[in-house]
Amino acid sequence: MNDAVFRDNVVVLTGASAGIGRELALQLAGRGAWLALAARDVGRLEEVAEECRERGGRALVAPTDVGEEAQCRRLIDRTMAEYGGVDTLVNNAGIGMWARFEEITDLSIFERIIRVNYLGSVYCTHYALPHLKRNRGRIVGVSSLTGKTGVPTRSAYAASKHAMAGFFDSLRIELMGSGVTVTMVYPGFVATGIRERAFGADGRPLGEGNSPVREDEVMTVEECARLIERAAAERRRELVMTRRAKVGMWLKLLAPRMVDRIARDAIERGK
Ligand SMILES: NC(=O)c1ccc[n+]([C@@H]2O[C@H](COP(=O)([O-])OP(=O)(O)OC[C@H]3O[C@@H](n4cnc5c(N)ncnc54)[C@H](OP(=O)(O)O)[C@@H]3O)[C@@H](O)[C@H]2O)c1
Repeated sequence: MNDAVFRDNVVVLTGASAGIGRELALQLAGRGAWLALAARDVGRLEEVAEECRERGGRALVAPTDVGEEAQCRRLIDRTMAEYGGVDTLVNNAGIGMWARFEEITDLSIFERIIRVNYLGSVYCTHYALPHLKRNRGRIVGVSSLTGKTGVPTRSAYAASKHAMAGFFDSLRIELMGSGVTVTMVYPGFVATGIRERAFGADGRPLGEGNSPVREDEVMTVEECARLIERAAAERRRELVMTRRAKVGMWLKLLAPRMVDRIARDAIERGK
């Protein structure tokens, strides 16, 4: 990988206050990127920004709820005012769930997840696109293996991630020849707080210490961010992160029922 790709590269990064987004911000800052850090929690964003500056990057704190179109427009406007361009947009902000469909009592989970995971990506991409085209930039969509195949306890989440894939795969084709590339990334389980923040059946977060996943046995956030950075730098079309998932993609063509069972077992085992 060319280490200089992200030097002085203006990166708008959503979901930068925690988890994968926070770690990606720190790694890109180490490469000399100019970051616009977006999420709702300003205090946490300020901390990430400070760490980014210590690592040699520039950092703008842009409080944003990506589910609100006007706030996504403001994010891009603020980035333009501060840095004068946009080279890379990473649509990473996301919220999860962990509940079987028939147990869900609060159906607003579906709207809330679609609004953040899917519409948030659409809004940010819409406002960034003219600037990305000027700079022959990069768009990254952080999906999930549930964007490739259905998974129990994730009906709304998988729907939002499939929606992202359909949107960005279509956009990639529309952008052929423009110089702007679209990289879709499909992580498996990564050790972050997403499960603790995920909606349970009643629409409330599962809560601290209640992750159903064996967090110490899944991919680290550092490795995940490294893989995203490399895929984006190389303008890869897509990145399916785990070996099990890569095999699963082939298996789905030949024996889809077997993939259904693998997905069920992964959820039951929590890894
Ligand atoms: N961890 C995994 O196992 C895993 C696996 C596959 C895919 N992914 C995907 O990876 C991405 C990052 O997940 P993560 O594991 O890092 O989750 P996380 O630790 O829960 O972080 C999620 C980030 O998204 C932000 N966010 C949530 N709602 C938002 C909103 N309405 N507007 C703006 N920002 C919002 C959060 O910040 P605020 O709360 O401050 O707004 C936070 O910065 C997500 O798209 C997720 O679906 C994760």
